[in-house]
Amino acid sequence: MKVLICDGMHEVGLSILRAAEGIDVDVPDQPGAEEIKAMLPDYDAVIVRSRTRITAELIENAPRLKVIGRAGTGVDNIDVKAASARGALVMNTPGANATAAAEHTIAMMLALARHIPQATQSMREGRWDKKRFMGTELFHQTLGIIGLGKIGSIVADRALSMKMDVLGHDPYIIPEAAAILGVEWVPLDELLARSDFLTLHTPSTSETVRILNRETLARTKPGVRILNCARGGLIDEQALYEFLLNGHVGGAALDVFEQEPPVDSPLLKLENVIFTPHLGASSYQAQANVARAIATQIVDYLLYGIIRNA
Ligand code: NAD
Ligand code: MLT
Repeated sequence: MKVLICDGMHEVGLSILRAAEGIDVDVPDQPGAEEIKAMLPDYDAVIVRSRTRITAELIENAPRLKVIGRAGTGVDNIDVKAASARGALVMNTPGANATAAAEHTIAMMLALARHIPQATQSMREGRWDKKRFMGTELFHQTLGIIGLGKIGSIVADRALSMKMDVLGHDPYIIPEAAAILGVEWVPLDELLARSDFLTLHTPSTSETVRILNRETLARTKPGVRILNCARGGLIDEQALYEFLLNGHVGGAALDVFEQEPPVDSPLLKLENVIFTPHLGASSYQAQANVARAIATQIVDYLLYGIIRNA
């Protein structure tokens, strides 16, 4: 059995795959789309993070392909429908990078509230701008969480420990379950109207794509600060830009973008927006967790026919 790893992998996962008798592993250095297209027909399994797109065309041209592994959460870079039609399994590692993504969200919220990236830049430029960077405390501010799954729940827990008031909206979570997390479940409109900070933690689906758009942004509390460490497509970036420019939205912290990397986005020029290049899962621990999980799942499936999603 041959396994192709397209986006690199933590050593812990590589060791599991290499130790499995009957499995050969190849780890080309950041292969491009054409290179992957040429290689994939020889492989039984492929493992990706978010960089590589596994399209219907690639799947159709890979007759041996039995399983596609996503070392992470979102499977929106894999054509799951085409894989299923071909009988190839798609596996991911839900939860394995949840703590990393939640902590990154909290880091972004604090950095946004206290202008840390802008103050760092200002000092690098030789200034000592004490007055320019007046911030806001998180204590008793209201955080609205859209999507109360694995990451949203951890964000809620950490925000509650900082004594924020936490609202949540998730059509698939009942208010009683939210209450167990210490979160007040509210309809979307109420969350928009009451949140001082608003953070997105849903997958990208037909229901959630551009969930923050001109109409919903207009219903947010004036001065709201918006965080997105989930998926770029959840926000209409042009609408966000307009609302930041007219001051209705007070700031934004973005880890994910409609197009990655963003090209010529006007958001990159705004002083009250801070960015990271899709770093939510980039902790040593999370990368070890996802690598261990996906490697074990792939070995179990290829060698023993066991199907698990960690
Ligand atoms: P999850 O499946 O555990 O939780 C998602 C939640 O969203 C679920 O509870 C679901 O009911 C809810 N949801 C679905 N539709 C909704 C809607 N219309 N309105 C409100 N809630 C809705 O997923 P997770 O592990 O918490 O991941 C959340 C997101 O974070 C995903 O998009 C994932 O791809 C992304 N992610 C990003 C990074 C990063 O590096 N930035 C890292 C890990 C995960
Ligand atoms: C995920 O969905 O797991 C993330 O986007 C993180 C990643 O791809 O590394």
